[in-house]
Amino acid sequence: MKKLYIILFSFAGIFSFNSSKAQLEYKDVAHIFYSRCTSCHHENQHAPSMMNYTETLNMGYLLAGQLIANTMPPWPPDTTYTRFVHEHLITDTEKNDLLNWINHGFLMGDTTLAPPAPTYQQYQLNGTPDLVLRTGTFASNANTQDAYNCFSLPTNLSQDRILRAYEIIPGNVPIVHHVVVNLDSMGTTTSSLSGNCFNITGDIGLGGYAPGAPPTVFPGQAPLKAGIRIRAGSKIVLQIHYPAGTMGQIDSTQIRLYFYPIGTTNVRPMYASVPLQNWSLDIPPNTTRTFASTYYVPYPISVFAAFPHSHKICTSLINYAYQATDTIPLIKINNWRFDWQGYYTFKNMVKIPNGYTIRSSHFYDNTTNNLNNPFNPPIHVYAGTSTTDEMLFDAFQWMFYLPGDELIDVNSILENDPLLAGVNENKMSDLISNVYPNPSSDKLNIYLSKRSDYKISISTIEGKNVLSAKTNEDYSQLDVKGISAGVYILDARDVRSGEHFSKKIIISH
Ligand code: HEC
Repeated sequence: MKKLYIILFSFAGIFSFNSSKAQLEYKDVAHIFYSRCTSCHHENQHAPSMMNYTETLNMGYLLAGQLIANTMPPWPPDTTYTRFVHEHLITDTEKNDLLNWINHGFLMGDTTLAPPAPTYQQYQLNGTPDLVLRTGTFASNANTQDAYNCFSLPTNLSQDRILRAYEIIPGNVPIVHHVVVNLDSMGTTTSSLSGNCFNITGDIGLGGYAPGAPPTVFPGQAPLKAGIRIRAGSKIVLQIHYPAGTMGQIDSTQIRLYFYPIGTTNVRPMYASVPLQNWSLDIPPNTTRTFASTYYVPYPISVFAAFPHSHKICTSLINYAYQATDTIPLIKINNWRFDWQGYYTFKNMVKIPNGYTIRSSHFYDNTTNNLNNPFNPPIHVYAGTSTTDEMLFDAFQWMFYLPGDELIDVNSILENDPLLAGVNENKMSDLISNVYPNPSSDKLNIYLSKRSDYKISISTIEGKNVLSAKTNEDYSQLDVKGISAGVYILDARDVRSGEHFSKKIIISH
């Protein structure tokens, strides 16, 4: 694989870099690593750390390979099809800056001028969880094969509660590849090494954890309060994936759950189900096949999140709803990767009127062209729950539709959620991808997520405008020397789309 990156990198030379900028040094690109990469690439994580110059340099040309191949930052859903909250993306300007810096030999410069590295806490959710469940000390059983184990953890709840949020804290981060969380409402499952923790009676998918994934939080403030009911006596089932070669290493993973206070009113029930399943997959060796599944929607629903699932023969998939000539897009993944999966939460819930049919189609490549094919030469693959079988198993979190649901700005409710306040300092809006330095005393650099016509303004907290500028680039630099020290609101408006975003900035002299 390393060879491939180097070959890819040699193409980097023919990319035209933004030559109007001076030779970039580490201080000029550090903020990009900090806002786009280090949420996953920091100490003691599954991904190698890139928190400072030396660590980043150590990654060498692998960086260019991943950037050019668009494999890092990892974001499987096709953003030209539908958009989700917490997307891991990088703008073209940022990518070119990184490639420029790499291509010119990773110039070190004065690293003390780089912005301070972000700090990462052990827990991302604020406050004290209502319930913490632990797997207990477990020694990985993944010798030459990846292991998938099911941990059934009794909640011991004596009354029903409504789940507002949860986060998974792996005990031994580098060996916990991913975790899928299911709710066993009947409380009948037991822990096992089978890996088969799905399709159990009364089972509800709650989501999961993958490296760098944010915690699962349901909107908990007007205009939308929602949550999943957890029945008394339920068990939470964690399916934990330990990669091959971790045999004997110790893990103790925990799930920290937050409930709505007992008696909270107006919480809309969120449901999770797997309407799209196909158990007749039959994929002979050296063939490609497409399989589908459909589900007729009898009453209008609001789709909150999508979690398509397949294994390693699948290479792409799509979910949408249709009726006659109308199509409602849900999710499209052009390069399906088993390692990157989870619930994708829509920025706005998707209304599916009654009478529509939801359809899933997965493409399976059982040839040697599929680099993730676990068998070489390929073997006959059928539907099944083992990783070397195949699945078409597409889940959704959804609610019964109420008028106006599709207009609710779920993205901003979640971005302003007090449970997450202050912990996502590096999370950027869609429009502004970075503002640096902040606090600023002289020049303020504003990176925008795409090229468009922008009106940028700085105003006081009371709304008095102190500076305005226009740009049709995806980058702008404002001179803030003349503005007196204080806290201001920076606003960027995309004049073409009307979208706008505000961010608090500090001017200091
Ligand atoms: C959502 C988490 C996440 C984000 C964000 C992310 N990465 Fe990664 N990256 C990973 C993980 C996990 C791996 C380990 C390999 C794997 O499992 O695919 C990885 C592997 C890599 C590798 C390969 C390392 C090797 O030894 O093969 C490079 C290079 C890389 N990332 C670069 C980047 C860059 C550059 C960015 C930012 C522009 C970035 N990544 C953002 C999670 C992330």
